[in-house]
Amino acid sequence: QGDVFTYDPGFTSTASCTSTITYIDGDKGELLYRGYPIEQLAEKSHYLEVCYLLLYGELPTAAQLEDFEHRVTNHTMVHEQMHNFFRGFRRDAHPMATMVGVVGAMSAFYHDSTDISDPWQREVAAIRMIAKLPTIAAMAYKYSVGQPFVYPKNSLDYAGNFLHMCFSVPAEEYIVNPILSKAMDRIFTLHADHEQNASTSTVRLAGSSGANPFACIAAGIACLWGPAHGGANQACLEMLREIGTVDRIPEYIARAKDKDDPFRLMGFGHRVYKNFDPRAKVMKESADEVLELLGIEDNETLKVAKELERIALEDEYFVSKKLYPNVDFYSGIILDAMGFPTAMFTPIFALSRTVGWISQWKEMMFDPELKIGRPRQLYTGAPARGYIEVEDR
Ligand code: SDX
Repeated sequence: QGDVFTYDPGFTSTASCTSTITYIDGDKGELLYRGYPIEQLAEKSHYLEVCYLLLYGELPTAAQLEDFEHRVTNHTMVHEQMHNFFRGFRRDAHPMATMVGVVGAMSAFYHDSTDISDPWQREVAAIRMIAKLPTIAAMAYKYSVGQPFVYPKNSLDYAGNFLHMCFSVPAEEYIVNPILSKAMDRIFTLHADHEQNASTSTVRLAGSSGANPFACIAAGIACLWGPAHGGANQACLEMLREIGTVDRIPEYIARAKDKDDPFRLMGFGHRVYKNFDPRAKVMKESADEVLELLGIEDNETLKVAKELERIALEDEYFVSKKLYPNVDFYSGIILDAMGFPTAMFTPIFALSRTVGWISQWKEMMFDPELKIGRPRQLYTGAPARGYIEVEDR
């Protein structure tokens, strides 16, 4: 009677929602944001234009883009009281822990954008999060390295401002290199949205209960942190460093194939892509460009990454399992070359994905048929039975 449920450990066999935002064809290795291929957006567009596209569904006119960039730029500062909030964390807290805490508390600072029944407040919440997440991520970094917070500068573009807030110090302003800023902006674009991945589904489920948007994004950040998801970029670079040299790659390939070994090649495989992750291709080209600019193109880690990719793509196990590099395989090499510690890799993924999370949340909140999410289960536990007194057990 009623619904018949089949157990699917990855929730991939049933659609959880309809959406008009992002399309993935895992067999073709195709990724579209509102119908535009990710390769074209990475080459021709920039992150704030992509944010407009994801939020409103169309590429902006020049006037629309100017207004949007002005609104975001003028919301990049955080409430001064939030500075004190950071000081409750230990200095060695992972920046993701700080971001979950601070973003989750944003509703305590921005009361006028928490009423989800008011479309204007939903809009302001979206702009505030896109604008403030880089500032919060940079503050989490500065706090972890014992340096003073750096305020945003309206004269810088979105990616340049983030680099400035991370790497400037009172004694010396960080000079934003346009090529590094473009590479940073491209990383933001490549991570902006990705259909119903684990963290986006978390944001949707939290939003379906009517929770305020800041709490929903904090839930998404928490889910992204896992090494099977957004935490893979940090785990991947640490794996490449542990391998160290190309002659040690076969040992790790063998471990990844050993069913009794929990080790997996980080940055490899994907629940949906059974072909190349198109983002990984763009990221690999960007890695070559950035490392050449910095004069470290013979970087040992990049050599290990490329050789590992070459070997894995020829290995019968990986071919049979359709395992290819994903978005996290090369991104860490670029971020490491820019000077970020591995602990900042996932916070950068989180700030990039905020526009995807908030766009999907907005889409869901406008649905007049919206009901609270309620995943079902297949019960395999004990049948109904009577209570047993302790002396009879
Ligand atoms: C992201 O969903 C999204 O869209 C996520 C994301 C986004 O933008 O939001 O794309 C971002 O999370 C990318 C993935 C980052 N994670 C990693 O790089 C961690 C390493 N990868 C794996 O943990 C794994 O590939 C997952 C978690 C990504 C996917 O796991 P699945 O769903 O179990 O993969 P699968 O079903 O396609 O696996 C097929 C087989 C399995 O073996 P069998 O159970 O069939 O025997 O391949 C094996 C897996 O065990 N396998 C791997 C492997 N990935 C899968 N074996 C060795 N190394 C790997 N990396």
